[in-house]
This record gives sequence, structure tokens and C-alpha cells, in this order.
Amino acid sequence: MMYHSQTKRIEPAMRPALTIVMLTVSTSCLAASPSFTIDTTRSAGKVSPLHHGLMTEEINHSYDGGLYAELIRNRAFLDDTNSPVFWSPLTSELAAVTIALDPANRVNDKLPSSLRLTVTQATKEHPAGVANTGYWGIPVYPKTPYRASLWARAEAGLSGPLIVSIVSEDGRTVYATGKISGITSQWKKFKVTLQTGNVAPTAQARFAVTLEQPGTVNLGLVSLFPPTWYNRPNGLRKDIMQLLVDLNPKFLRFPGGNYLEGNKIEERFPWQKTLGPLEERPGHPCNWGYRSSDGMGLLEFLEWCEDMNAEPVLAVYAGYSLGQDHVKAGPDLEPFVQEALDEIEYVIGDTNTTWGARRAKDGHPAPFKLTYVEIGNEDYFEQAKTYDARYAQFHDAIKSKYPQLKLISTIADAKLNGRKPDMVDLHDYSATDEFLKKSVNFGNDMSRSGPEIFVGEWAAHEDASARPWDAAAQKLPPTPSMKAAIGDGVFMAAMERNSDIIKMQCYAPLLVNVNPWARQWRPNLIGYDALSAYGSPSYYAIQMFSQNLGDEILPVTFTNTSVQGSATRDSKTGEIIVKLVNPELTPQSLPIEIKGITSLNPKATVITLAGNPDDTNSNNHPRKVVPVTTTLTGIKPGFTFTLPAHSIVVLKLKP
Ligand code: AHR
Repeated sequence: MMYHSQTKRIEPAMRPALTIVMLTVSTSCLAASPSFTIDTTRSAGKVSPLHHGLMTEEINHSYDGGLYAELIRNRAFLDDTNSPVFWSPLTSELAAVTIALDPANRVNDKLPSSLRLTVTQATKEHPAGVANTGYWGIPVYPKTPYRASLWARAEAGLSGPLIVSIVSEDGRTVYATGKISGITSQWKKFKVTLQTGNVAPTAQARFAVTLEQPGTVNLGLVSLFPPTWYNRPNGLRKDIMQLLVDLNPKFLRFPGGNYLEGNKIEERFPWQKTLGPLEERPGHPCNWGYRSSDGMGLLEFLEWCEDMNAEPVLAVYAGYSLGQDHVKAGPDLEPFVQEALDEIEYVIGDTNTTWGARRAKDGHPAPFKLTYVEIGNEDYFEQAKTYDARYAQFHDAIKSKYPQLKLISTIADAKLNGRKPDMVDLHDYSATDEFLKKSVNFGNDMSRSGPEIFVGEWAAHEDASARPWDAAAQKLPPTPSMKAAIGDGVFMAAMERNSDIIKMQCYAPLLVNVNPWARQWRPNLIGYDALSAYGSPSYYAIQMFSQNLGDEILPVTFTNTSVQGSATRDSKTGEIIVKLVNPELTPQSLPIEIKGITSLNPKATVITLAGNPDDTNSNNHPRKVVPVTTTLTGIKPGFTFTLPAHSIVVLKLKP
């Protein structure tokens, strides 16, 4: 596996500067009176309605063992070619079984293995079989139906049923059970619902398939789903989806990130192989050290967008992989360009096109909305520097077939063989202290004549020098602290002040399974184990910004203060929405002057996120740092507001 440095450079804007927001911070004269002015007589531009979104990829068990609700790990028996990892024999003194991979007996050509169970001793009282540990446990919820399915075939002589159950780790408690009968020598898919009773939630459980008599049976593609978001059959975890929907995202950038590229060309996101029934998806090695089941396929990503009312930002593989493999522009690249055109056709083509028809066959006749297509990911890491020609080839092919689409370059200042990107994607992972410095002016000198700006990955790191994939990082919290949320807050304020040109932005990575060695990166926005999920302080900071966006940017000026922030107006309601970030460990009193209005509703809503730098949330303490909403009275166009120590505040000032 190849990793690269985590510190990213913000590429300079490409054209002359236009300063639209005056933001001054003088640290040398903090003793002088601070002030903060919002000028409502001028507009600094329109807030992009797509400003807040999500970035996602398979990393940290984001999907398998995360958002994707499948509970069986190594369900297709392809995670390891030598042994059925995550599966173990279930035996006792009076029950005996051997289990082995059986590539000779396969459900179909797309799934090149199965699991063979040879039970030599078993009875109803002493069954023998196999158990799956799931992704760090199978979550058991009370009064819940689970959908189990598996493919099976038996050797002659086996007439009895298979018993399918969710059981405690010690095997003594059966939480839910069902029976599968009618297994023959031919592969067949079986389904059964497992219903739990009024049990206490636990993840100390396993999924078991047992026989009550000797015999030999092969299992293929074994699956178990709890209820999912909108009850989709191959769907998403409800608790994580609720957290995502509450972020009010307007777009979803997928499928990566490095996951798009793979470590090698043949390990790129194989979108065609992620379509259709699960037994036709072999999965593929993901570049974060484990195999992806590809249960989260192209259609699942698109339906995920639909379920959040967000639009897809589709990244297409552009001929460069993380391990430095690349495809030469010209005839060699043509098949990859065609692959991207086909993928776009799957997303937006009519049902009379090849891939539009395939989408309809997969259950979604209506085309999806698509505005932006990103060509590759972080191509500035390519040592051979071939992006200009590769981009140009993709650009010409996509623009000629789909002139309405906007294309995103992953390098801001590249020449791109004379092609003009509609948007450029900048990534920035910085320490909070760096964000505090750079956010003062970030975005002010970006050209307003294009291209549009996408900050497609960003996050404040508590310690930017700590390499997130090192063993030492496993001991650190998987999600950010309040200190990082302060860095995120000032960076978001800077992006919002410039959201006329920074059309889209999204934090990365989004998701992390918090179990030991489940993650390859830190910090990550949302953490979970098998049973529950929580948002980090940074999650709540983003939620405060995204739920209170406004549509008109108001110019702001800060003087003699380390407080940073932004202001917008909701043109429908006239509400002025102010975001302020206090990085100091003491409260800060800030006189606020609002130019251009003579009166304000004396009552304002205040949303506050505050905490010590090390404060954070976790599965055990999911709400240690959360926003608190209060009402403030005595508001007028000139008033003094005291920000709590180390806080992010949204002030909603009504006309
Ligand atoms: O967000 C984690 C990784 O950081 C992404 O996969 C990659 O694009 C970036 O380098």
C-alpha cells in the first residue's frame, strides 16, 4: 500500500485578485478596542446553494462495517484466498465440522469461491456449523426483523434444514433464529427473516449457520441486513444516515479520493462490476488495506444522494493510480475515456441508451441530476506529470457528448493543454493554528472570473505532523477534538465569506469505524461501532454552518480581535446570520456594528458550541460537546456580544 504526505498545498488562484471581503486581524495591538462590522448596504455576492456537501470513499470501513448496513463480513468468501477469514467452525464435544474455501463449487462465474461445511457429527441438541463475527460484532437490537439470505447447495444425503441464527458470542443465547429447508444439489438462493425479542442491545453476537445432522453443504454470498434507511433492500444504516441528513448536504462527492484511483490501474473503482444483484459483485481490493464488497455500487451511491436530497459530484477514473501507474494520453487512454462516458450515461442517459437501459433494469428508470464531473483525484501527486494531456482528452470527449456538464480539474494551476476547467478542486488538511492564520485572508484573492472553486477535502488536524496511518495514531481518538473544530470553524467562515466563488466544499474523511485497526486515517467526522454512531465537535460545527447558510454574503470587518467569522443574509426572511469563532481560552467581548439598518428584533437566537481544546465526543459520550440554542435579548444594530471561551457561535438576527 502506498501512502503520501497528508499536508496539502492550497493551489494559488489562477487569475487576478478581486478582494471582496475586508477582514483584518492585528495580533500586535489586541489591547486596542476590538470591533466587528457587518455592512448590509453592500452585497459581497451570492452564497452558492451547493456550498455544503459531503465527500465519501471506502476508507476506515466507511461502507463495509459502516454506512452500508450489511452485517456479514467476507460474505462472498473472497477476502482471503487461503482461508475463510471472519468465519469459524461451531463445534462442541458432541458436534464436529470442518470448513474450507471451495473455489471448485461456485455460485456463478462472478463469485469464484464458496464455503464448504463438512459436518461429521451433529444432532438437534448439539448442532455443528459456522459462525461469522461481522464487523466487530453483529449488532442485536430489540424487537427487530433482520433479513438473512444465502446461496446453498448440498451433497447427496443431506435432507435436513439449515438453521440460521443470531447468537451470543458464547453461543448460550439465541437472539433470533430461522430455518432453511429444501436444499438440493443445485445452487439456490434462500431468504429468511430473523426476529429478535425484547432483548438488551448488544454487539457481542455472531451470525450462525448450523446443521442438526451430518452432511456436506456449500454456502455462497451470505447476507444479513437490519432495517435500513427508507427500508431499501441493499440499504444504509439508519443512525449514520440520520447524522448525514442532519448536515443538510447539497452534494455528495464520490467514489473518492484515493478509492477512485486504487493503488493500481486494475484496482480503480470498478463501477460496472458494482451493478446488479449482490451475487454478481465480486468486490475488489481497496487501497486502504482491505477488500471492498462493492455492496455500495454506483447505483447505491446515486440513491444515497437521492435519499439526502443531494446531487452527485461524480469523480471518474482518469488514468492515474496512487501507486504511480498511469495511462498515456492518446489511444491507450481511449478505453478509460469510454468507461467514463459510459458511467455518465448510466447516471443521466435516457432509457434508450445502453447504460440508461441498464440503470432502468437495475430499478431506476429516471435519470439522476448531474452537474459536475471530476476528472481524477489529486493528480498533482503523479510523478510523471501527465495530467494536462489526460485531462484534455477527457474534457474533449465529455464536453462533446455532454456540453451541459461542468468539469472539475484536480490541479488548480495546470495548463491542461489549453482546456479551461469549469471548476478546480483544492484539498487542505492543516493544523488548527495554520487554519487560524491562513483563514484570515483565505479566498479573498481568488479570481471571480473563474474557474469556480471546490474545496473537495479539508479538515483541521490537531497535529498535522502525526501521520494518520501510523500505529501510534491508532491510540489517538478517531474523531476530532474541540481544538480541531475551532480550526474547522475559521476555515468554514473564510469559505463562506467567499462562497460566491467557493461553490462547493466538504470535510474529509467523513466516516470512521472506531474499533481498533478499523481505521487508516484521523481525524474523521463521524464515528461508530456496530451498535451506535456519534458526531464529533467538528460535525456539529459543520451542522451549525450548513443549517444556517443564508443566500447573500455580507461584507465583514474585524479589528483588534482574534475572533474570526462571517455574515450572510437570508433574502426571503431578511434574517442576518452571523458566525463567530473565538479561538481564545477566555471569553471575548465583541462590539458588533451593523451598518445600513436602523432597527432589529430585540430577540435573537444564539447557537453555541464551546468546550476545552481536548474535549471530544465518543460512542460512550456522544453528546459531551454539542450546540446549545438560547435566546438573547436587547439586540439592536449596535450591541456587544460576549463569545464564550473557545467557542463557535451562530447569531440569528431577525429584522
Ligand atoms: O481523505 C483521505 C485521503 O486524502 C483521500 O483519499 C485522498 O484524496 C487524500 O489524499
